[in-house]
Amino acid sequence: MLRSHLQALLVAASLLIPSLAISSGACLTGTCHSAVLSVKRPHTPVAGGECLACHKQQSAKHPTPGQKGFSLIASGGALCSPCHEQMGKKKNVHQPVKEGGCLSCHKPHGSDNPSLLTVGEDRSKLCFDCHDAAPFVRQFKHGPVAAGSCDACHDPHESDEKSLLNGPLREVCLKCHTDFDQGMKEATSVHGPVRVSPCTSCHDAHGSDNSSLLLVTSPELCFQCHKTLQAKLSDNSRPHKPVVQKGGCSTCHASHYSKGKRLLQSGEKELCLQCHGDNKLAPLKNIKEQLKGKPNLHGPLAAGRCTGCHDPHGSPNFRLLTGPYPATYYAPYTDGAYGFCLRCHEKNLLRFPDTTVFTKFRNGNRNLHYLHVVNSRKGRSCRACHEPHASDGPKLTTREGTPFGEWKIPFVLELTETGGKCSSGCHQSFAYDRDKAVVNRRMSAPVFGGKTSATKGDH
Ligand code: HEC
Ligand code: HEC
Ligand code: HEC
Ligand code: HEC
Ligand code: HEC
Ligand code: HEC
Ligand code: HEC
Ligand code: HEC
Ligand code: HEC
Ligand code: HEC
Ligand code: HEC
Ligand code: HEC
Ligand code: HEC
Repeated sequence: MLRSHLQALLVAASLLIPSLAISSGACLTGTCHSAVLSVKRPHTPVAGGECLACHKQQSAKHPTPGQKGFSLIASGGALCSPCHEQMGKKKNVHQPVKEGGCLSCHKPHGSDNPSLLTVGEDRSKLCFDCHDAAPFVRQFKHGPVAAGSCDACHDPHESDEKSLLNGPLREVCLKCHTDFDQGMKEATSVHGPVRVSPCTSCHDAHGSDNSSLLLVTSPELCFQCHKTLQAKLSDNSRPHKPVVQKGGCSTCHASHYSKGKRLLQSGEKELCLQCHGDNKLAPLKNIKEQLKGKPNLHGPLAAGRCTGCHDPHGSPNFRLLTGPYPATYYAPYTDGAYGFCLRCHEKNLLRFPDTTVFTKFRNGNRNLHYLHVVNSRKGRSCRACHEPHASDGPKLTTREGTPFGEWKIPFVLELTETGGKCSSGCHQSFAYDRDKAVVNRRMSAPVFGGKTSATKGDH
């Protein structure tokens, strides 16, 4: 800031009026003005006795009682600019600087504080001389604000940035919050606004009545930008409980960046099993237990996912499923009723009583899915034969059987090259073969429904 000491001295020297008896050094030799040096940090020209760099003698004789013998050589910033870089060249100039009010913050002769300031460590006192302190009184104060280090972020004089910030807004934050740079480098996903927007899209730089200096609390904060999700959840009769419980979005998502995809705090399956991996949520099943030791995982689960099937935020469907699926054991097929399964599986699975392509579960051309789910008075839901998550039998069938009231219906499926055999608690063993329809001898009527198949005796 200082142009050069030499220049300063030249300026000072040119101001000397040769006829005067008083030389600079003389002011300090006596007791008259030695007090200006009684501070810890005198201003350099003052310490050097260069009083005439700023003062000029007005009357021939000094001191003259009742008369001001000296005046300032210039006023405002002009007093300082001979030695200090002239201010006012940047886009935004602080109003008192613009007006040459250097002395509203600095003492001309020296000070006990650094930078000749009128205040010590807590520099906010300086600012609150002119600025209203009220907006800074919040339940949670930002570290540097609490310490009064307003100039950690603001240039007290001038700046090309708005709000007199001492750098581009994001960089102002990141120069202290250095863990972000490293964290973002190592992360798999970085939140859009954290990557590109100022941190102040979510935080108040000064303080807040919300924890973590948040402008508004979550989830409202999140909904400011995630309107679609907000709309979905407000129409939704069934939000997933943790979304609306304490912790909200942050239960599962990091706010800034994470090593999981979609800002998840951990891998998706691990995340879900943190809560669904024990019996605390009974009567909901313990899914970890369901998966344990099962050789056959349902496709998406094998890929580590729960969300192809469940909406983690909420859904109008049974069990947060991503499409309609009946809640009951008996649920005859109607259009759309099994939309959930048929999102991923053959759309025509249940449309035709006879087929050669849409399912392998057929006897000759007879569609046995159709037979069980559509065609009977008591159409059975998929859960009668398939497990949703994992199984020990083929095709997600399970030897443990499916719950039927308090009983479990045993179900053993043995596959052959061209068909299979079902031994279940619903009926005696029936075989099916796609190439050459099996004629099953009916030994007794099926226990549950299925009139047509029973009388035809081929099932
Ligand atoms: C960098 C400029 C500068 C230098 C150098 C300087 N002064 Fe001053 N001085 C001022 C200003 C500005 C004021 C007016 C202060 C005010 O109005 O608050 C002032 C005021 C004074 C006053 C009036 C009383 C007071 O303290 O307010 C005296 C006496 C004085 N200076 C003495 C000195 C002496 C002696 C020296 C040299 C040892 C000196 N000054 C060097 C800027 C300077
Ligand atoms: C005659 C030259 C001269 C004038 C006029 C002058 N200064 Fe200085 N000022 C200096 C020198 C020399 C330094 C020491 C610079 C250094 O250490 O790098 C200094 C340092 C400062 C410092 C830093 C002090 C510190 O402790 O870091 C401030 C603040 C300052 N001046 C403010 C002012 C203000 C305000 C004015 C006008 C009222 C002014 N100066 C006028 C020469 C001058
Ligand atoms: C609103 C208060 C305020 C005003 C007005 C002000 N300053 Fe400062 N000035 C400061 C603060 C605070 C610092 C210390 C900055 C730091 O430590 O980073 C400072 C530091 C300085 C320094 C030390 C070098 C530097 O830039 O860090 C100089 C020189 C200086 N000011 C000169 C001036 C001059 C000349 C004026 C008037 C044109 C002026 N100041 C007006 C608050 C002010
Ligand atoms: C001598 C009075 C005074 C002091 C002391 C003062 N300010 Fe200011 N400040 C002003 C005025 C006047 C404005 C212009 C207000 C406006 O435009 O509404 C202003 C504006 C600002 C602005 C807004 C600039 C913008 O572009 O929006 C910031 C930031 C600011 N001051 C910070 C500070 C900080 C930090 C301090 C303490 C280091 C401080 N001020 C000390 C008088 C002062
Ligand atoms: C951690 C950085 C930081 C600290 C410390 C800080 N500010 Fe700010 N300040 C900002 C940012 C960022 C803005 C701009 C906010 C925006 O535009 O979104 C701002 C804006 C302002 C403004 C402009 C008016 C306004 O509220 O928008 C004033 C005045 C101000 N600050 C004064 C202060 C004072 C006084 C202190 C010390 C008590 C202080 N600031 C401490 C970052 C900081
Ligand atoms: C001068 C250094 C500094 C700067 C610049 C800075 N911070 Fe901070 N920030 C801190 C300190 C120190 C803490 C307290 C850390 C702690 O307690 O672990 C903190 C804490 C925070 C917190 C957490 C507060 C809480 O109560 O948990 C947030 C949020 C924050 N800063 C945001 C910001 C934003 C946004 C910016 C930029 C506008 C910023 N910081 C700039 C030093 C800084
Ligand atoms: C999309 C909104 C959003 C943005 C943008 C954002 N944060 Fe945060 N931040 C939060 C939320 C929500 C919390 C509190 C929950 C938590 O701890 O994750 C938080 C907490 C913090 C904390 C305290 C807890 C911690 O992680 O240490 C700091 C510090 C912080 N943020 C700094 C920053 C900085 C620096 C930036 C800019 C690089 C930033 N934030 C950008 C939303 C955001
Ligand atoms: C300032 C706007 C804003 C706020 C506030 C905000 N977000 Fe975001 N969020 C975005 C943007 C932009 C994206 C990126 C969208 C994209 O890439 O398609 C995003 C993406 C996401 C993603 C997906 C990340 C990925 O990798 O696909 C999640 C999860 C997320 N936000 C959660 C939250 C949570 C939780 C909150 C509240 C703490 C929140 N957001 C607040 C703007 C915001
Ligand atoms: C129970 C854990 C959980 C909670 C609580 C949660 N999410 Fe998610 N969120 C997820 C999972 C898992 C994904 C990944 C979905 C995917 O990959 O398809 C996700 C994806 C997202 C996405 C990106 C994809 C999309 O669906 O748009 C956004 C944005 C998002 N969440 C925002 C939020 C917000 C905002 C909240 C709070 C209202 C919230 N989340 C609460 C688990 C959760
Ligand atoms: C923080 C704990 C927590 C996490 C993490 C969590 N859940 Fe949940 N989940 C719950 C709670 C609590 C319930 C509600 C239990 C109740 O209604 O009694 C629930 C209910 C469910 C339900 C049954 C909903 C119904 O209405 O029948 C499903 C399905 C579910 N969660 C799937 C998931 C999936 C998938 C994930 C991972 C994306 C996940 N959960 C992560 C706590 C969690
Ligand atoms: C391929 C689709 C699919 C995947 C992937 C999937 N689920 Fe499910 N989930 C279902 C279906 C279908 C049901 C309903 C089962 C029923 O009632 O017949 C269900 C039911 C549930 C239930 C309620 C259990 C109960 O008590 O009835 C929870 C909890 C659950 N799933 C959690 C998870 C978790 C955690 C994951 C990931 C580890 C996951 N699901 C992966 C399809 C899936
Ligand atoms: C999000 C997509 C998705 C949904 C929804 C879904 N599945 Fe699957 N399913 C798969 C994938 C992927 C596989 C493994 C790929 C394959 O073998 O065809 C699979 C495999 C199967 C298998 C074993 C097929 C074989 O040939 O080994 C059965 C049986 C099955 N699903 C039944 C169901 C039932 C019943 C539902 C509804 C309750 C359902 N699926 C919902 C994606 C899904
Ligand atoms: C009565 C028992 C039973 C019911 C009910 C049942 N399935 Fe199956 N499903 C089977 C058998 C057995 C196979 C194995 C066929 C083969 O490969 O030989 C099978 C195979 C599948 C396959 C593998 C592809 C195919 O068609 O061969 C899918 C997908 C499937 N079922 C979905 C469903 C869906 C969706 C539902 C409910 C709408 C359902 N199943 C209801 C017994 C059943």
